[in-house]
Formats: sequence, C-alpha cells, structure tokens
Amino acid sequence: MCHNCAATAESGLAAGTLPTAGTVPSRRSVAKLLALGAGLTALAACTPDGGTQPPSSSSPPGTSASVSPVSATPSAGPGTSTAPATEPGTAAAPAPATTSAPTPTSPAAGLAKQHSLTDPASPWLVVNKHRPLSPADYVPADLVQPNIALAVSGEAAQLNSTTAAAAEQMFAAAARDGVTVTLASGYRSYGTQVATYNSYVASRGQAEADTASARPGFSEHQTGWSFDIGDGGGACSFQPCFADQPAAVWAKANGHRFGFVVRYPWMLHEITGYYYESWHLRFIGVEAATDMANRGIATLEEYFGLEAAPGYL
Ligand code: DAL
Ligand code: ZN
Repeated sequence: MCHNCAATAESGLAAGTLPTAGTVPSRRSVAKLLALGAGLTALAACTPDGGTQPPSSSSPPGTSASVSPVSATPSAGPGTSTAPATEPGTAAAPAPATTSAPTPTSPAAGLAKQHSLTDPASPWLVVNKHRPLSPADYVPADLVQPNIALAVSGEAAQLNSTTAAAAEQMFAAAARDGVTVTLASGYRSYGTQVATYNSYVASRGQAEADTASARPGFSEHQTGWSFDIGDGGGACSFQPCFADQPAAVWAKANGHRFGFVVRYPWMLHEITGYYYESWHLRFIGVEAATDMANRGIATLEEYFGLEAAPGYL
C-alpha cells in the first residue's frame, strides 16, 4: 500500500501559471512547482503495493535542466489538456504513432544500430502523450523478477528481461559504491494503470492527474522498460527531495553506464509532459544512454527528433 500518497500537493499554483522550459523561475515558484509536481507524482507513481514509507517533507532538488530543447517543440504545459479521460477499456485511443525510427537528422540517427520507436518491445520505444502504446493493452512477453533489492512484490517487482539484467548490473555497481538502491515500482499492467490513474483523477481531478500519471495505454511502466527507484529507507520517496538522496544522485550520474536515463528531467515537462521524476529510470541501451549523456541531451523526444508532447492530442 502506498502510504506516501497522502502527502500530495497542497500548492495553489495553477497549471496555467507554471513556468515554461527555458525560463528561470523564482526560488519560491520553483518550490511551489516541485511541491505540486512531486506530490502529484507520488500518488501517480504508487501502485497498490507501492512505497511503504511515511511521507517526508519536500525540498527543491539541487539539480537543473541540462539542456535546452534541440528539436522538440514545447507548446502548452502539462495539465492544460481538456480532452476527456480515457475510459478503461472503452474509449478509443488516439491513432498509433507512425514514426518507426529516429528522424534522419536526430542525434540518435548517428548510432550504428537503430531500433524502432514504436514497437513496445524495442528499447527505443517512445511512449508519451502523443504516442500511445499499440496495442494499448500490450504485455511484455519476457517479464521477470530481477535479482535486486525489492520494495514491492507481484507484478510491480517485474521488468522485461533486458531491463532486469541491466538493473541487476546497475544496482550491484551502486552497492559497490556504497549506495543502496531499491526497486520501488516496476511493471504495471494496463489494468493497474487504469486503477492508478483513475484513483488519482478521483482525488485531484484530471488536469492535475495528467501532469504526473500516464493514462492507461500511455505509461512506460506497462512496457517493462521503466521502473522507479527508492533508497531502501524511504527518504523522500516519490518526492522532489528524492533528487538529492544518494540513490537518485548516483543513478543520475551513472545510469547511462547501464543503459538508463532519467526519463522525466527537471523543468522539461513541456517536452515530456510530466514533472521531474528523479526516481523514474528508463532503459534505452548503453550506447544511446551514454550518447545522450555525452551530448547533454536530456529527453528522448529531443534525442530521437520527435515533437514535444506536453498534453494529449
Ligand atoms: N508517472 C509516469 C509518467 C507514469 O505514470 O507512467
Ligand atoms: Zn515511474
């Protein structure tokens, strides 16, 4: 059960007042943004058997956006969509994205081995608010439970086999560096995402929910390529201050060595569609993740030459 979900945002900061990527908001507005975003995300990220730690206070992370948009074009901020929520199992999803490979001019086009951007089984799959999973109820064929420290059980303790193997390597390396990292939330089925998203909408309303929780059929967690991390002690779990915890600091600095990126970086929500999630890691392979780190490219949208996806179409 996720006990930190109650520590959700109390900020009165309206979605329409959020600073845009590339601007430099005041410290107070940043703190408000973080409190809102992380509080929302705390609930969204939680699964029924998710984090088990009590809430702790939020504080601004000591990090900042590493790059300006390269090719992704931000428009409206997250939470501004007026589209109705996807009804579980009933509403028609938007048409599947047609892009199957990085654009010829994207940074990723230079890598020796290319992968599909639309196949859910591809490590380069890009799923965001413009790019639903196809099929919407996709289930990875190779889910396994990695041999790493688990803070959850059941499906949430599973990843696809490639991600699981990479996670085992990464968690072991972190341990050698004296850093404890735990798996706080891994695979989520379509049905679990329905429950998670609907719970959040019921609690906070759809606009706020959409800034932190993916609608069913739009979550990376459903692919097995992503997972959330904790530090084993519950410090700042799913909160902004997690960015300053050793597990997050270590993962941000070293994740690329094992094929991982922080999928929803600080202040790039107008590209990714979600507020900063320092705990959410995504496997894309060592070569691509290292290339992104070396180039200072922070989002998959920019790296693969895709449009920004701040809201649902
Ligand atoms: N919190 C991320 C965006 C998800 O729900 O997949
Ligand atoms: Zn996540």
